[in-house]
Amino acid sequence: MHRDKPFSQACENNKRPILEQLARLFTLPGTILEIGSGTGQHVAYFAAELPHLTWQPSERPTMTHLCLPWIQEAKLNNLNPPIPLDVSQPQWPPLDVNGIFSANTAHIMAWPDVEKMFWGASQYLAANALFVLYGPFNYQGRYTSESNAQFDRQLRAQAGHMGIRDMDDLLPLARQAGMTLAEDITMPANNRLLVWRKLATA
Ligand SMILES: C[S@@+](CC[C@H](N)C(=O)[O-])C[C@H]1O[C@@H](n2cnc3c(N)ncnc32)[C@H](O)[C@@H]1O
Repeated sequence: MHRDKPFSQACENNKRPILEQLARLFTLPGTILEIGSGTGQHVAYFAAELPHLTWQPSERPTMTHLCLPWIQEAKLNNLNPPIPLDVSQPQWPPLDVNGIFSANTAHIMAWPDVEKMFWGASQYLAANALFVLYGPFNYQGRYTSESNAQFDRQLRAQAGHMGIRDMDDLLPLARQAGMTLAEDITMPANNRLLVWRKLATA
């Protein structure tokens, strides 16, 4: 079935637990932007399972083709073609979105790009709208598991700018960008689902 498409086993493993949370968090109709869609497996699955939402996949300009096969095969009216979006760029495309989702991106991007992702996401969101960020995260400089410590070592050996991010850095960043941590949910395989809520402007 997936032989001719880019495939991530991790996506297959985590899509159901993530879906259960998204179904609870995004109850109202609206458009959800996905940042760093990768293979497109997540967005194709979420669009099929959450038909009240319109899904907008995105990727770095050189990578948007990756998610096309899953998206085209899904043939869903509530699943848009991917748009180019590199969070490091000063100008993000003009978009009307009601929520944002991103999985396994914060440890791949360089820290300055994580900062830009939070600032950019915040610009798109209205007061109380959510930015849902999935992946492994550290707390007070500590790993939540030995497997995450090992994963982090692999990432940093592969490229010095990559690495598991710490909540001690994300919390003040989010606050500066106008968001607050609404929920921090334990997920399978030592991952977290961080739910950032846009603060109402004064
Ligand atoms: C580990 S993959 C995760 C893909 C998918 N979300 C998943 O969970 O399988 C990380 C993704 O982040 C994307 N990414 C890295 N830097 C980015 C940037 N500056 N702007 C947007 N996406 C970026 C990569 O292109 C890649 O698709």
